Amino acid sequence: MGPWTALAPMQDVTTLPFMRILGRYGAPDILFTEYFRVHSHSTLEVHIVESITKNGTGRPIFAQMIGESVPDLVRTMEALQELPIAGIDLNMGCPAPKVYKKNVGGGLLRDPAKVDSILAAMRATTKGNLTVKMRIGFDDDRHFETLLALIEKHDVDLLSLHARTVKEGYRSEVHYDYIKKAVTSLSCPVLANGNITSVEKGEQVLQSTQAAGLMIGRSCIRNPWIFGQLRDHWAGREFFRPRLSDVRRYVDELYEEVTAGDIEEKFRVNKLKKFLNFVGIAVDSNGEFLHDMRRVKNYDELRSVADRHLLANGRGARVYPLEPLEGLISRPNCETPEGCSL
Ligand SMILES: Cc1cc2nc3c(=O)[nH]c(=O)nc-3n(C[C@H](O)[C@H](O)[C@H](O)COP(=O)(O)O)c2cc1C
Repeated sequence: MGPWTALAPMQDVTTLPFMRILGRYGAPDILFTEYFRVHSHSTLEVHIVESITKNGTGRPIFAQMIGESVPDLVRTMEALQELPIAGIDLNMGCPAPKVYKKNVGGGLLRDPAKVDSILAAMRATTKGNLTVKMRIGFDDDRHFETLLALIEKHDVDLLSLHARTVKEGYRSEVHYDYIKKAVTSLSCPVLANGNITSVEKGEQVLQSTQAAGLMIGRSCIRNPWIFGQLRDHWAGREFFRPRLSDVRRYVDELYEEVTAGDIEEKFRVNKLKKFLNFVGIAVDSNGEFLHDMRRVKNYDELRSVADRHLLANGRGARVYPLEPLEGLISRPNCETPEGCSL
């Protein structure tokens, strides 16, 4: 078997319907849920539980928690361990100010002593795998080596490393050399995360870091074929290169499945637009699809924009670029003060 592929946890994106869609386009080897919020009166969010029990991919899934109160984390783990999960993951990376101000998510990276006590309690409670997803630090890398030592001390079973600081958000360059450092100093497997945009980029990152696998977030919204492409590539097979007509079908599936929970059409269209902000960065280099898509008011208009840019005048036969196109960005982005909404 080749390196692992993993679906990165993404709040409001890696929901049950999106996991099901990925299952059809080529499921990743392992999945992570959106985070379960953990605090004194938290209960398990039902829609996230369903992404564990009903995703139908047959692949191991890790339940992610975000929180800092040890008794509440332990209580939540006990509930999660009743579910068919492969393990429990601790979020130490979320950069939304409203999150890190509570010293959870990325905020924990400022406090190694707290991380020590949380991991000790989680290790004592876990019946399966204990995994961590983190960034390289908060403002800078000052605690990076201490954090790695804690991961080793508590026998963490897998580390997913998004190689940016919290302050760097989602758009800076990714410091892959820290992934290599983690690979060299830890006994557990490490997943490389951050801007793995294509098979070629994934291959480069694996070569340079020697990571056990790749964790992919935003690029699988743009290209839901990416996990299958990587698997085919590693098996020495030609991988599938979608055409714009394939993307056109994907747009309909997103509307029918991912937005189905919202009743009113305008909410469904808005939710679809969030996904299409990622799809659109590879459609045309002038950003015309993005421009037109962002202005539609209803699904009929959206359908005709999609038809015009993805099917009409022979466009359907064009190959969908493997990488995002220069200069296009998928705003609104995840650095808004409201948090990790798209
Ligand atoms: C919309 C969105 C939501 C996210 N939600 C989570 C989350 O719930 N838990 C988490 O650990 N990371 C979350 N992340 C971070 C991703 O898991 C990943 O680390 C980051 O996007 C970098 O990987 P990428 O370049 O492949 O997208 C989120 C990212 C995005 C874009």
